[in-house]
Amino acid sequence: MSEPKKLFIKTYGCQMNVYDSERMVEAMQADGYVTTEHAEDADLVLLNTCHIREKASEKLYSDLGRLRPLKTANPDMKIGVAGCVAQAEGGEIMRRMPLVDLVVGPQSYHRLPEMARTGRKQIDTEFPTEDKFDLLPKRKALRGPSAFLTVQEGCDKFCAFCVVPYTRGAEVSRPLQRIVDEARDLVERGVKDITLLGQNVNAYHSDKTGLAGLVRTLARIDGLERVRYTTSHPNDMEDDLIAAHADEPKLMPYLHLPVQSGSDRILKAMNRKHTAEQYLRLIERVRLARPDILLSSDFIVGFPGETDADFQQTLDLVSAVGYGMAYSFKYSARPGTPAAEKPDVDAAVADARLQVLQALVTRQQRACQDAMVGRDVGVLYDKPGRMPGQMVGKSDHLHAVHVTDPAGKPGDLVRVRILASSSNSLAGERIS
Ligand code: SAH
Ligand code: SF4
Ligand code: F3S
Repeated sequence: MSEPKKLFIKTYGCQMNVYDSERMVEAMQADGYVTTEHAEDADLVLLNTCHIREKASEKLYSDLGRLRPLKTANPDMKIGVAGCVAQAEGGEIMRRMPLVDLVVGPQSYHRLPEMARTGRKQIDTEFPTEDKFDLLPKRKALRGPSAFLTVQEGCDKFCAFCVVPYTRGAEVSRPLQRIVDEARDLVERGVKDITLLGQNVNAYHSDKTGLAGLVRTLARIDGLERVRYTTSHPNDMEDDLIAAHADEPKLMPYLHLPVQSGSDRILKAMNRKHTAEQYLRLIERVRLARPDILLSSDFIVGFPGETDADFQQTLDLVSAVGYGMAYSFKYSARPGTPAAEKPDVDAAVADARLQVLQALVTRQQRACQDAMVGRDVGVLYDKPGRMPGQMVGKSDHLHAVHVTDPAGKPGDLVRVRILASSSNSLAGERIS
């Protein structure tokens, strides 16, 4: 028998790309491929790309430059570009980089095995009528007790800075039953913690069920212990979802709710369709439902027209909320988006703002972590730690926790008393 073909895959961008990469690997495995950690051994190199900021997008081209000598040494090697840059730039990628053989968008990757089989140069960036999830193989062996599950794709919000509505298309929700079936498959393979994914996950809607109904349905699956979801938009935070945070014990106390800016003027220019005050009131309601919830957000600094006063309002909002986690980005003008037409804020000013904001959220993150010391939390072990007899897992609040537990195994869900907090993780002792 001939040797199986080898696939090397590299993933950039958000968790939805991580999920898509897993599904692409499974589709190629069903077609006889095995994975390799080394691009130089691969018959097919796949780059699953992100278009969100210029830097992310340009990584594709630097990686392709690095692959060139490998392809010269092994002309049979095929190179494929998947994901959001594939969708945004399509055939342009092959014109700029003739070494690319396949370009496949996020909605057509179920066709990848067939594209790879023909061996011809091909582009598929359609938004096909068939549902790729119906045509992909069932979920296979998994590495750990936590898994992602995409339930919703696309975005209709058209924030003025963002490429996602163009790269991922309109909002589409997967049918409830398909999601339940996939979750059951995952649980049968040992998964205990599922994070539901969507570019606008709380806009999920299918069979008269919103995200709250989906969460409650999944929570009834025996063996599934934890449910999370990301990313949410403030305007889709319905009452029933907030209520689920109060009374659904399997829904974890963590909410990523990006606000982007604390200035109403900038929020309006961003087309976010809510004010800072409305966001703060929403946070109050969420905290009323689940007082210990850990809040997380994304921020953009240096959006066109942002003044020092606007930026100060962002700092004020961060101080008012107190985040357990936050990501801040310097605005990057993206071709085709409305904001790209506007003049940029001075780069040095934007850099300085980014540093100030990052310093503030780092302090808040640390304070939130330190406040866990002395508390008892649930921890789901992921893998052994670096020290002998040690396990590493995730707390309910998604903090990394180190526990000395020589009998511990990945997938054990245990109670831990937190004893110490260090820069990126907590440490504790198992209490049951
Ligand atoms: N759907 C999600 C997040 C999508 S992208 C939401 O609505 O929040 C993830 C984050 O990238 C965004 O929240 C935003 O903070 C950041 N981002 C998106 N476009 C950007 C751009 N052009 N420049 C800088 N950051 C951007
Ligand atoms: Fe982009 Fe806005 Fe849609 Fe989020 S809600 S994906 S930031 S357009
Ligand atoms: Fe990037 Fe596409 Fe995700 S642009 S952030 S990979 S949806």
